[in-house]
Amino acid sequence: MTKLEIYSLSNKLIGTIEVSKEESYNKRLRMDKTLLDYLLVSGIKMPYGCMGGSCGACIVEILDGAEFIDREGSHKIVLKSLAENEALTCITTIKEFDNNPTVKLKLKFEADFTIK
Ligand code: FES
Repeated sequence: MTKLEIYSLSNKLIGTIEVSKEESYNKRLRMDKTLLDYLLVSGIKMPYGCMGGSCGACIVEILDGAEFIDREGSHKIVLKSLAENEALTCITTIKEFDNNPTVKLKLKFEADFTIK
């Protein structure tokens, strides 16, 4: 089980999303779900556009746990323009589920609600 702790722009913890290895696989698309999938399903009104790592709309800051996610997918070119602590959620997947890792993500906007 991997925990995604989500922080708003003002560093307020707005909630935690727990993802198991089994839940991470999208059977319909036959690929791992992305961080954007989890954020949207949790009710966060994430901005997004291309869904392919090129527009930058879905960017978040990684506060901790970068080693537990895969920011590249098959989009290595995009990473050249990203800071080390940033991720495009539409192409980022969780790669580590063992030992209950935590990934802390900070949104680029204020969110005045709590994930239930
Ligand atoms: S939606 Fe365009 S980069 Fe993620």
